[in-house]
Amino acid sequence: MKKLKYKIEKISRKEIKDNKLLKQSIFDGNIFIFKKSSLCLELINLTNKFFYMHFGISTEDFIKNENLKIFEENKLIEFQDKIKRSKSLLALFCKLLREFKFNVNETLTDKITFRYSPNVKKEPLGNLKPAKAHRDTWASNVFNQINWWIPLHEVEESSSIFIVPEYFDKKISNNSKAWSFKNYKKIQNYPSTPFTEFKFKKNQVKHFKLKKGEVLCFSGNHIHGSVLGIKKRINLETRTVCNNDEKIFNIPKNVDSETTVKKINWFSPIRK
Ligand SMILES: [Fe+2]
Repeated sequence: MKKLKYKIEKISRKEIKDNKLLKQSIFDGNIFIFKKSSLCLELINLTNKFFYMHFGISTEDFIKNENLKIFEENKLIEFQDKIKRSKSLLALFCKLLREFKFNVNETLTDKITFRYSPNVKKEPLGNLKPAKAHRDTWASNVFNQINWWIPLHEVEESSSIFIVPEYFDKKISNNSKAWSFKNYKKIQNYPSTPFTEFKFKKNQVKHFKLKKGEVLCFSGNHIHGSVLGIKKRINLETRTVCNNDEKIFNIPKNVDSETTVKKINWFSPIRK
């Protein structure tokens, strides 16, 4: 069997001895699944509480029943805004980063986002429609970006996001030259990110089985996407960058992004 060029490693916070090694490994293209922790469960439970208060149903019941209709698009967008504005969720995420030994005083973060992805048979709703294969760096031009993906329930490989590690440092055709953030904000159904239409080989596309309380963490330079799965899913996600990454680490190189502006203003200090 061909050895994977990039590792997909499951680790517990106790195994993280040195944040520098961890971060360099992420910037080298390795993918981490942080094992279930009580802090991550706390973050999930708080989101669940907000969900119950907003929709009058638990996330558990919502996920169990594929046919349940509780989402009016406006109500979902309202909820997504609430999550983005929540200081207590941000504080918990900050604590979680500290468990992974991140220096939170130097860390900037994008907003924490709640994403709803229905099963393949249903129409997506709300902010953040499923994204085709892309690198986040095609939009942001920020090459030291780290992505965090936190499902609110157990997900099977058939219903998770996907990453194509093989293409971490391989050029691929994409529409980053034409895509504009302004248009995304202005035009309905404009894609949330530049993307590629390239058809990847099935065995190169990695999916992830994750337990509730586990966190998927990977470089924003990885090709990834959020296609719909067999089952619906709900998750939190965000991305972080640290001030001095470019000086301290070998960060991913630009192989195929044709955007010129660095969108560092998408990120703000996690500790104000
Ligand atoms: Fe993305």
